[in-house]
Amino acid sequence: MCGIVAYIGKKEAYPILIKGLKRLEYRGYDSAGICLLNSGLNVYKCKGKVADLEAFASSKDISGTVGIGHTRWATHGEPNDVNAHPHYSGNEKLALIHNGIIENYDPLKKELVKRGHIFKSDTDTEVLVHLIEDVQANENLSLAEAVRIALTQVVGAYAIAVMDKSDPNVIIGAKKGSPMVVGIGKNEFFLASDATPIIEYTNEVVYLEDEQIVELRVGQDPIVRSIENEVMTPYIHELEMKLEALEKGGYEHFMLKEIFEQPRSISDSMRGRYHVQSGTVTLGGISDYEQKMANAKRIIIVACGTSWHAGLVGEYLIEDLARIPVEVEYASEFRYRNPIINEDDVVIAISQSGETADTLAALELAKSKGATIIGVCNVVGSSISRITDAGSYTHAGPEIGVASTKAFTSQVTVLLLMALRLAHKKGSIAESRFQRILASLEKIPAQVEEVLQSAELVKYIAGQYKDSRNFLYLGRGYNFPVALEGALKLKEISYIHAEGYPAAEMKHGPIALIDAEMPVVVIAPSKGSYEKVLSNIQEVKARKGKIIAVVTKGDTSAAELADHVIEIPETEEELVPILASVPLQLLSYYIAVMRGCNVDQPRNLAKSVTVE
Ligand code: G6P
Repeated sequence: MCGIVAYIGKKEAYPILIKGLKRLEYRGYDSAGICLLNSGLNVYKCKGKVADLEAFASSKDISGTVGIGHTRWATHGEPNDVNAHPHYSGNEKLALIHNGIIENYDPLKKELVKRGHIFKSDTDTEVLVHLIEDVQANENLSLAEAVRIALTQVVGAYAIAVMDKSDPNVIIGAKKGSPMVVGIGKNEFFLASDATPIIEYTNEVVYLEDEQIVELRVGQDPIVRSIENEVMTPYIHELEMKLEALEKGGYEHFMLKEIFEQPRSISDSMRGRYHVQSGTVTLGGISDYEQKMANAKRIIIVACGTSWHAGLVGEYLIEDLARIPVEVEYASEFRYRNPIINEDDVVIAISQSGETADTLAALELAKSKGATIIGVCNVVGSSISRITDAGSYTHAGPEIGVASTKAFTSQVTVLLLMALRLAHKKGSIAESRFQRILASLEKIPAQVEEVLQSAELVKYIAGQYKDSRNFLYLGRGYNFPVALEGALKLKEISYIHAEGYPAAEMKHGPIALIDAEMPVVVIAPSKGSYEKVLSNIQEVKARKGKIIAVVTKGDTSAAELADHVIEIPETEEELVPILASVPLQLLSYYIAVMRGCNVDQPRNLAKSVTVE
């Protein structure tokens, strides 16, 4: 995790760095810091958020047209002022920011201590800047060359930016395993963990590849070298991101804005990909691989967090519609358990950020075993989207709130389209069912809009249960993953313990927890195992649990039993997860707000988990 940003040009760097860090705060927010080149190399850093850094820097000299900035999610060393980045080298001539983990920091540190280096922090990052200093001093090298040689000794992941007091007109960036984007402006350059700090200054970017080092000097073209010292020609991409998408647009929180954006984000996920009249689905990004996917003996879905829940819905969809066996794996487990992967396997990675370290590593493993790897990512140009053979972007637009909302519904939408496409290709779906689902899909954005109109009701329900200490979420079939996702949302942002369970499985444990203090959220649409879910509701009621039921509009049976009812419009069973997850997002949101929690930046979490 951690967000990094750097600027070199003719403008004042400080406001660019601070604004950039605020955009990157979703990547970590336990401490922040900057280094500016003015009277010397001046580092200002402190524990807390970027706003705390601003307050801290307000009395300092913040002039300078070259600078680097960092917002941290602690890995090595607790979040405090000393461990915050940037870190100086021993002679304070270099300053460095880092996103990633230097795995062999311990032997490197021991060696450097022997050579007289003294360390101030507990971080792996400080070891790296001392190592660069050591290489530079001993071999009398330029900063770029010293960084390159130092990095040949490093095991781990990094995206770094380095400044040198003795060569004030240069910033060096490098990456391996952590993302880094270079922004190319007129007489100015930017470096950042993603394009969001860059977008208002230039739309020309270069996505640095692993083990590449970039040298940025005003008045010169960027020089990109491989770690083997080969000069590379950078490929310049045009950004399509819109600035408005990065701002709150009148909403109190990004999360609320993103929940309310779903009618549009879901439309964007399916735009141009299905045609009700001709009864077809087209996914251009995977068209060269769809035969291979349709023929696969099995599909393995790898993901983390909310994306893993979307993967579970994907499993139900692909197995049900396309009749291809699917396994859904936590990427972190998959990569370390010596999985069996064959050349005729297809591995689909689902990731909003496209940067999650475990998901990326799981894909690399699958690729090394010869499997076909497919991405379902939101961030265009992200690491996962670049290493996959093919993929379908979710096109949900930037998601800033740490708790994922619109990305989830877009992932489910894309997985549904993928399942339909494969089903059509295989002939495993009756034409009437195919048409029915397509026709229902077309209505989904308007139906999500309708669900959003129940926000006030959901807010009222949130008020009733905001002080609960536990929550249970139950669902069956397609709605079991929705229950898991609902529980995760509540945990993440309100810090209330919540569990998602398959409704019938409740009898095998969680039922012991149910009493009058336990709110139970049940997803009980009229399709699927409706009657069975009604019985599960009865079982909860018999133990005095409080029922919040998400039901199909017009339902009376579940409504009679429930303490609170939230209606969603009628749709096909396969599409219910999209509609049913929206009120659960709102419920978590309002409960968290009522409890005074920082909804967009929940404690200990980060949006893009680029460490294992
Ligand atoms: C973090 C985020 C979650 C996200 C998960 C996977 O835990 O807080 O919201 O679902 O990472 O992220 P990805 O970008 O791979 O979807």
